[in-house]
Amino acid sequence: MPVLSDEQVATYHGDGSVLVKGMFDAEEIDLLGRAAREDRELDRRSQGREDGEGGSVRLSLWNHPGNGIYGMYARCNRIVDSMEKLLGGEVYHYHSKMILKDPEVGGAWTWHQDYGYWYQNGVLFPLLSSVMIAVDPATRENGCLQVLKGSHLMGRVNHELAGEQAGADIERVDEATKVLELVHVKMEPGDALFFHCNILHRSDRNTSPNPRWSLICCYNAARNNPYRESHHPCYTPLDKVPDSAIKDVGIKRFEDDDTDVVWMGDNDKSTSSLADLEKR
Ligand code: SIN
Ligand code: MN
Repeated sequence: MPVLSDEQVATYHGDGSVLVKGMFDAEEIDLLGRAAREDRELDRRSQGREDGEGGSVRLSLWNHPGNGIYGMYARCNRIVDSMEKLLGGEVYHYHSKMILKDPEVGGAWTWHQDYGYWYQNGVLFPLLSSVMIAVDPATRENGCLQVLKGSHLMGRVNHELAGEQAGADIERVDEATKVLELVHVKMEPGDALFFHCNILHRSDRNTSPNPRWSLICCYNAARNNPYRESHHPCYTPLDKVPDSAIKDVGIKRFEDDDTDVVWMGDNDKSTSSLADLEKR
C-alpha cells in the first residue's frame, strides 16, 4: 500500500479528513484485534469516564509506540509516510490510544477538536493529525465517528468542560452544523481515517450488541515541537518500520513488550482539569 496519493492529500486539506479503504489487510487486522482483546495490560490500563448520557467512554492511551504490534502500526511506512505527506515534513509520535467502545455500554463522545485540547500542551500550530484504524466494523448503530466536513477551516474553537468531557463551544457547533455536512464515517476493519486536529468530531453511544474498537495514532510535526513539557511528548525521533513489520511481529501485546512504554498517567504532572480531560 503506497502513501496517500496527491488526490487523497487534497481531500484531506479540503474536507479535514480522508478515508482510505483497506489500508490494512484482513490478516493484519486480525492480529491487531486478537492482540488487543486478549491484552490484560491494555485492559488494566484502560480508563472509563461517564459520558453524561448513561454510557461510559473507555480508552487506553500511551505516549511512545513501543515494539509490540501497536507500535508496528504506529511506526509503519504506510502510516508515517502518509502523515509526513499530510503535514509537510517529518513527524513524531504524539500518542496512540485504543478506543474500547463496548457493546451496549460504550459511551458517546461530545463534539470536540483534538487541537482544542492539545493547544493546552504548548503546541503552537495545528500541525497535528490522527489516523483512526478500524479494528471492528464501525456503523451508525455501534457509534461510528461523525465529522463535520470542512470544520477544520474554522480554526480552533473554545473548549469548555461539560460533565466529565471537554466539548467545543456549543453555540459555534450548532451554527457550524447548519452550514456544514455531517458525515457518519462508516468503516470496515482495516480502513483508516486520517483526520485534521481541528476537525469537529463526535460519536454516539454504542447501542448495538457489537464492539467498536478503534486504534487512533496521533502525530505532531517535528517542526512544531511544543514550547513546554506536558503529558504528551516533545519531539522524539520516530523509528519507522517497513509495512511487513506488522505481520513479522504478530501478536505482541503490551504484556509481552518489555520496552519502556509510557502510559498516560505514569508521567502526568498536569493539574488543570481541562488538561486532565485532554488525555482522552
Ligand atoms: C471516538 O472514538 O468516537 C472518538 C475518539 C476521540 O475523539 O478520540
Ligand atoms: Mn478526538
